[in-house]
Amino acid sequence: MKLFSFRSPRKIVFGRGSIELLPELLDQLGIRGTAMLVTGRSFARRSGYLDKIKSLLTSSGSKVVVFDRVEPNPSIETVEAGGSLAREQGVEFVIGFGGGSAMDAAKGISVLAAHGGRLEDYFYPAEVKPPILPIIAIPTTCGTGSEVTKYGVYSVGLKKKVIASEEIVPTISILDSNVMKYLPNNITAHTSMDALSHALEAYYHVKSSELSDLYAVESIRMIFENFEKGVKGDFDSKERLFYASMLAGFAINLAGTVVVHGLGYYLTQKFGIPHGLANALFLTQFIEYIAENVPERTVSLGKALGIGADDPSEIARELVQKIDALKSSAGLPMNLKEAGVPESELDKIVEEASSYKRNLENCLKPPSTSDLKAIVKKAFGQ
Ligand SMILES: [Fe+2]
Repeated sequence: MKLFSFRSPRKIVFGRGSIELLPELLDQLGIRGTAMLVTGRSFARRSGYLDKIKSLLTSSGSKVVVFDRVEPNPSIETVEAGGSLAREQGVEFVIGFGGGSAMDAAKGISVLAAHGGRLEDYFYPAEVKPPILPIIAIPTTCGTGSEVTKYGVYSVGLKKKVIASEEIVPTISILDSNVMKYLPNNITAHTSMDALSHALEAYYHVKSSELSDLYAVESIRMIFENFEKGVKGDFDSKERLFYASMLAGFAINLAGTVVVHGLGYYLTQKFGIPHGLANALFLTQFIEYIAENVPERTVSLGKALGIGADDPSEIARELVQKIDALKSSAGLPMNLKEAGVPESELDKIVEEASSYKRNLENCLKPPSTSDLKAIVKKAFGQ
């Protein structure tokens, strides 16, 4: 068996209405004092969750500072502004409420509030030293898995930079599936595709292990089963997608992402294509590439997913068909051309992906530049 090591939150609660447990959970873990609620610009307020969380906190004796300026793909400036405010206000713990952007901003703010400096001081491969402020993560999308991971991802111009440190694994994760009622169908589709990418990429990561496979396979299986109904608004299916995205979070916490994320980042930074959709645009080409180059893992994956075939290229064909069917059921663009990416950008996509060395090197078969070119060319479409 392979060695594995990971940290998970001290407390994870999952279920409808579980946000009500916030005061009790804080009390159990002795977390008290001034809280900073980190969130985006509108959803928390519009949905009533901002007031709800504020009143849960004040009822348990906490003071609340609201920082509701987090934009999608948060910038360094936003996180640093949050960090300064947290220091000024004597914030003692941080709550991230939202998608990956809000939770990742909360992680960065917690680090800066504790240690000061610039956000870039903590970017991989730098380590974050303990202690930082306790982080409470409350996700509202079914993609990122950030509520259970050691990653925080930030925008720096056309690049994504990451903090990768077990210190930023949230102390408490509250997955209140009732929030899925508010998630629009298109964001359900995009973020589920992100979770599917996490699970598939973790499976082909050099640090994949028996444990990460367990999370990855179950996540893939549940996304395959629940995506089509979930993206049409079925609440039970959305709840299962929400759960599957947490499982995929565990898979990348143990292993990590590889080629698909390396390719997708530029599409988000340059064209504003949502992160999950950007990944979805390279997923099937990645599967074809990896099935050819890592056939034995592909056979195990096929078996674990109950795919009858035992030939890796046949398994890849079935996976590709399934993923294409999911994308099409949600009306997602099937290729880069349909997503509005000009053909003149293809070389640049390869060049940018090549700069995410960690993503490429951590793949069980790191792609060469010509492999990346072939993947991107196919992803563009005919
Ligand atoms: Fe992702």
